[in-house]
Amino acid sequence: MARLPDPADHHERLLIVDFGSQVTQLIARRLRELSVYCEIHPFQRVTPAFLQDFGPKAVILSGGPASVPNRGSPRPPDEIFDLGVPVLGICYGQQVMQQMLGGRVTRGEGTAEFGRAFVSPQGQLDLLQGWFDGPDGTGREQVWMSHGDHVAELAPGFEVFGTSPGAPFAITADPHRRFYAVQFHPEVHHTPKGVRLYENFVRLAGFAGDWTMGAYREQAVEAIRAQVGDAKVICALSGGVDSSVAAALIHEAVGDQLTCVFVDHGLLRQDEAAEVVSMFRDNMNLHVVHAQEQDLFLDALEGQSDPETKRKIIGRLFIDVFQKHADGIEGAAFLAQGTLYPDVIESVSFSGGPSVTIKSHHNVGGLPQEMGLTLVEPLRELFKDEVRALGRELGLPPSFIGRHPFPGPGLAIRCLGEITREKLAILRRADAIFIDQIRRHGLYDDIWQAFVALLPVRTVGVMGDGRTYDYACALRAVTSVDGMTADYYPFEHAFLGETATRIINEVPGINRVTYDITSKPPGTIEWE
Ligand code: XMP
Repeated sequence: MARLPDPADHHERLLIVDFGSQVTQLIARRLRELSVYCEIHPFQRVTPAFLQDFGPKAVILSGGPASVPNRGSPRPPDEIFDLGVPVLGICYGQQVMQQMLGGRVTRGEGTAEFGRAFVSPQGQLDLLQGWFDGPDGTGREQVWMSHGDHVAELAPGFEVFGTSPGAPFAITADPHRRFYAVQFHPEVHHTPKGVRLYENFVRLAGFAGDWTMGAYREQAVEAIRAQVGDAKVICALSGGVDSSVAAALIHEAVGDQLTCVFVDHGLLRQDEAAEVVSMFRDNMNLHVVHAQEQDLFLDALEGQSDPETKRKIIGRLFIDVFQKHADGIEGAAFLAQGTLYPDVIESVSFSGGPSVTIKSHHNVGGLPQEMGLTLVEPLRELFKDEVRALGRELGLPPSFIGRHPFPGPGLAIRCLGEITREKLAILRRADAIFIDQIRRHGLYDDIWQAFVALLPVRTVGVMGDGRTYDYACALRAVTSVDGMTADYYPFEHAFLGETATRIINEVPGINRVTYDITSKPPGTIEWE
């Protein structure tokens, strides 16, 4: 699979060596927020040849679940300490660094610390500028610890600059060689001033901090042109942020060589298809094929109520439809995808070699090989928040960039049980009212995802003098950082009451509204 020439080639790079910590990605995010380009690589991959090729301006050794005193525990190559660049070891990274440079690490026994701890200063260190000078006068900083083992003997050249009750060597450094080692995790939220530490680290490493979206845009455009030449590119536009930003960027690079295919499966929200097509076609002058295949999808779904069967039918038809339209585009050699960095980071696996997790986007995962297309993935170096920033940079409207995620199978998994055109129409109207209410009350940006699920039950009600027997629906609104865990949004009762009244009054077919207060886990965000 060909990949985009690396737009980061022109950048100063920081290398994060991953030992499998749950929070390694957060280190990268903190650095990217400081406009520093960095990449995460599993320790197995970081060989002397890799180091030479990568040319890091600084190195961070991440935390990890292994134990340094154990035989065969992971190590970076010795050469990492001969590069002449600053090195910061975090938690496991700190311990492995001490051990390799001549110190000694021992198993916990009474010194394990998990959770909040306070570090007190000892001496002055460039890495700690802006620390220990809080207004409360305690001279302490709150940090997040999570360690069983600890450093028992410092490596030659190192001194202690901070201590906590469970970690006498909480902060150590050899300032002469610019080697720094901390026992806690500065990248997590619970180390409130952790960012300051990274800021000091990249400053003392001499980073210019020039990783901006403006610079990325220019380089990515150059790289796309170099990859694509004068061939044609096709893109499955879903209306989601990732595919939209990828399409806008590729369009900027190769203009009319790009054709987008927007598959309308009849399971979109109210006015959604028209809005997406009009924005890209009319406002941004992209060539968009609007594949109106509602009947194909809805006929195939008729009588199906099992969630997985629904997903399979939609996925299969999506590929068929996309392929049919793509076949009509003569000379298409490339397929654009909105793959993001978290999807391509190789995760550390202790059982075997590094494993690669790549999610297929837009339900077209298997297409490139089948159709003989090469992938163009201009977002594969970016995190989600960076994709949003790039979208703004490219002139996509802020309301579009901030849209809630929407699942590929669309309303099919929100119309519980059997899908009918009538039930979809009811669901669309109720969903539009709920979202309108959320926008009117200024809550849209505080919520990760909000929608209505139409329940497969009818309930008795009374309206005017008559008895009704109509559908019940559930409102779902959650807060989340990444969709992996979520909590329900704590609406005011007045908001819920007003929304329920509007839905019942304005949507014939619904006579009961409930609010789902389940978190994830144990629930999921969607109902199917
Ligand atoms: P769950 O329901 O698993 O959802 O908590 C987590 C996130 O994934 C979305 N989701 C899907 N997205 N195809 C998609 O493209 C699917 O089949 C699908 N199922 C769930 C969901 O909307 C939420 O953002």
